[in-house]
Amino acid sequence: MRKILKWLGIILGSLIGLVLILAAVLITIGTSQLNKTYDIEPETIAIPTDSDTIARGQYIYSTTCASCHGDNLAGTSFFDDPALGNIPAPNLTAGNGGIGNTYTDADYVRAIRHGVRPDGTPLMIMPSNAFYYFSDEDLGAIIAYIKNATPQNQPWPAKRLSPMGRILLAAGAFGDVLHAETIDHTGPRPTAPAQGVTAVYGEYLVNTGDCRNCHGPDLTGQQPGEPGAPFAPNLTSSGHLADWSAEDFIAAMRTGQTPDGHEIDGDFMPWEHIGRMTDDDLTAMFLYLQSLPTTTTESTK
Ligand code: HEC
Ligand code: HEC
Repeated sequence: MRKILKWLGIILGSLIGLVLILAAVLITIGTSQLNKTYDIEPETIAIPTDSDTIARGQYIYSTTCASCHGDNLAGTSFFDDPALGNIPAPNLTAGNGGIGNTYTDADYVRAIRHGVRPDGTPLMIMPSNAFYYFSDEDLGAIIAYIKNATPQNQPWPAKRLSPMGRILLAAGAFGDVLHAETIDHTGPRPTAPAQGVTAVYGEYLVNTGDCRNCHGPDLTGQQPGEPGAPFAPNLTSSGHLADWSAEDFIAAMRTGQTPDGHEIDGDFMPWEHIGRMTDDDLTAMFLYLQSLPTTTTESTK
C-alpha cells in the first residue's frame, strides 16, 4: 500500500511539474509574440481634406470601425476579463488619452493597413488583415475623417494580458489575433475595383468588411475565436443564404432578423453597423456571396 501511494505521489508530482513547465513555456511564447517588433515602412498615402473625402471616410468608419472604437471615436473597453486581461479599442481622437495627439500620417497607415503600432509591436484583434484590402483612396479617406474628428477626452487603461491570457494566446485558443504576423507587408497591393453594384465590388466590401475573420477565409462558416460566440454560418451559395433575396439580406443587416425568423446575436455579429451600408453596397456584397461556388466542405449549421 505504502509503495503504491509513494508511486502515485511521484507520478502526480511529475504531472504537476510537467504542467507548470508547459505553462511557463506558453507564457514565454505568448509574451514574445506580444513583444515581437515588425519593421514596417508604410506606404505614403494622400490624405485629402475636402468635405467629400471626409464624408467618404465617415461612411466607412461608421460601417466598419465604429462597432469597436465607438460612434464618436472615443474607443470602447472592447475586451475586459478579470482572469484574462483587458484590451481596449483605443480613443482615436486628439482628445485626452487619444492617439490623435501623437500619430503621424505614416503611423495611421502602419496601424490600420499593417496591424503594427508606432513602436513596432503588433496590434491584437484589430482586423488589419481585412483593412489591408482598402484602396489608397479609401484608407486616405478614413484617416482624413479620423484626423478631423471632434476630440474626445477618454483615456483607457493600458492593454494588459494576464499569464492565463498569454497561455491561451500562445496555445491559439483565441484564433489568429495578431494579424501583423500573417499580412504580406511587402507584396504587391491588392487591386481595388471600381465602385458599383457588382459582385467584384461586393468582394472588395466583404474583404474590407472583415467578414472572413469570423465566417472563415472562404466564408463557408467557422467557430469565431471570441469566447462565447455562436457559430458564424456559411455565407456561400451552399449555406442558408442560397434561398435569400437581396432584399432579405438587406433586411437581415438592418433589423437583425433573418427570413427564417432567427435573431442574429448583435454581440458577436456587427449587423447593426454593416446595416448602415447603402442598399447598393449591401446588394453588391450579396451578389458576391451568391456567386461563390457550392463547396464540398459542408458547414455544420
Ligand atoms: C473588432 C474590433 C475592431 C475593429 C472593427 C477596428 N478596430 Fe482598431 N483596434 C481594435 C483594438 C482591440 C485595438 C487595440 C489593439 C492592441 O492594443 O493590441 C485597435 C487599435 C487601433 C489603432 C491603433 C491604436 C494604438 O494604440 O496605437 C488604430 C489606429 C485603429 N485601431 C484604427 C481602426 C480603424 C480606422 C478601424 C476601421 C477601419 C478599426 N480600427 C476597426 C479593435 C478594432
Ligand atoms: C465578429 C465576427 C463577425 C463578423 C466580423 C461578421 N460576422 Fe456575420 N455572423 C457572425 C456570427 C457569430 C453569426 C451568427 C449569429 C447568430 O447565430 O446569432 C453571424 C451571422 C451572419 C448572418 C446570418 C446568417 C444565417 O445563416 O442566419 C449573415 C448574413 C452574416 N453574418 C453576414 C456577415 C457579413 C456579410 C459580414 C461582413 C460584412 C459579417 N457577417 C461579419 C459573426 C461575424
